[in-house]
Amino acid sequence: MPVVDVHTHMYPPVYMDLLRARDKVPYVKSFPDDPAAGDRLVILPAEDTASTSRGRPIGAEYYDVKEKLAFMDRHHIDVSVISLANPWLDWLPSNEAADTARKVNDDVERMCTEHEGRLLGFGTLPLSAPASQVVEEIERLSKLPHHRGVVMGTSGLGSGLDDPALDPIYAAMEKHEQLIFLHPHYGLPTSVYGDRASDYGHVLPLALGFPLETTIAVARMLLSGVWDRFPKLNVLIAHSGGTLPFLAGRIESCIAHDAHLKKEGKLEKRRDVWDVLKNNIYLDAVIYADVGLKAAIDASGADRLMFGTDHPFFPPLEEGEDEWLSVKLNSQAVRSTFGDDPKTAEAIMGGNAMRILRLSS
Ligand code: URA
Ligand code: ZN
Repeated sequence: MPVVDVHTHMYPPVYMDLLRARDKVPYVKSFPDDPAAGDRLVILPAEDTASTSRGRPIGAEYYDVKEKLAFMDRHHIDVSVISLANPWLDWLPSNEAADTARKVNDDVERMCTEHEGRLLGFGTLPLSAPASQVVEEIERLSKLPHHRGVVMGTSGLGSGLDDPALDPIYAAMEKHEQLIFLHPHYGLPTSVYGDRASDYGHVLPLALGFPLETTIAVARMLLSGVWDRFPKLNVLIAHSGGTLPFLAGRIESCIAHDAHLKKEGKLEKRRDVWDVLKNNIYLDAVIYADVGLKAAIDASGADRLMFGTDHPFFPPLEEGEDEWLSVKLNSQAVRSTFGDDPKTAEAIMGGNAMRILRLSS
């Protein structure tokens, strides 16, 4: 059974050119006052500080397809479904978004065609453009042979994924059977991390801010009835659903105890989170330990989980580590959970993705 990585990013060359031409977030730059730091990728406002730790180092692993393939070979990954890394096209002026999305998606399609059998893609939507242009790109993507859906952040058209203005986009995704790969970027307001946040490096925003951002976004989709209106809309949630599998019971209990929702008649005829988790949601297995993996499986089912790496993020801190720790933790979690059930382990490592993403064997 092939190993398939459904959570793996690239900034394709067309997108790198855009980042290199900018000096506002997001941008890529080297700093003359610190030549040893090399090129730095600055994608979050909090990273845009005048210090040597500005942003993060960025090398060829972010944009060179050869590096992606070398990483796949080193980790015995047969197929990668590459997605543009955050912050996608969220920041583009409205009038440039549609044209840029076409160029970026075509660049990904080109790489996939050049490496037939190894690469597929999740496309990127021009979400700052008028909804009609977003729908046009969904329709175009649905015809690109190597694309299997779209990657999307939590901001939607600017006011979140519970925005009714997204309905034509959800309708098009549902109609064309395109999967949304939902991925965080914005985190939580930095004030929640306190005065000493910078002492703790990237831990609070990435370990907690990212998954909570995702969880809040999905809860808002659920509460606004997205899956009642689009019962066949499928979403692959990054990082094993943020904290959704763990908090699903609490979300349902809060809904059942909300007098305002009851008065508005919103407790009748609604699909609950358990139903949506088992019928509309897929989860990646990017959770780094068996405890979280088991929660994800309990919530959605082992047939809805798919292995991922988050490459090229979370590289080893020391040079010369052949197998990345971040990859090892994720594959070990699958192995230790299913030591006595290799068929299910294989399904999570690749078989589920083959079926869900219509990969031919
Ligand atoms: N950090 C990011 O900005 N994106 C990822 O996907 C992972 C880590
Ligand atoms: Zn990621």
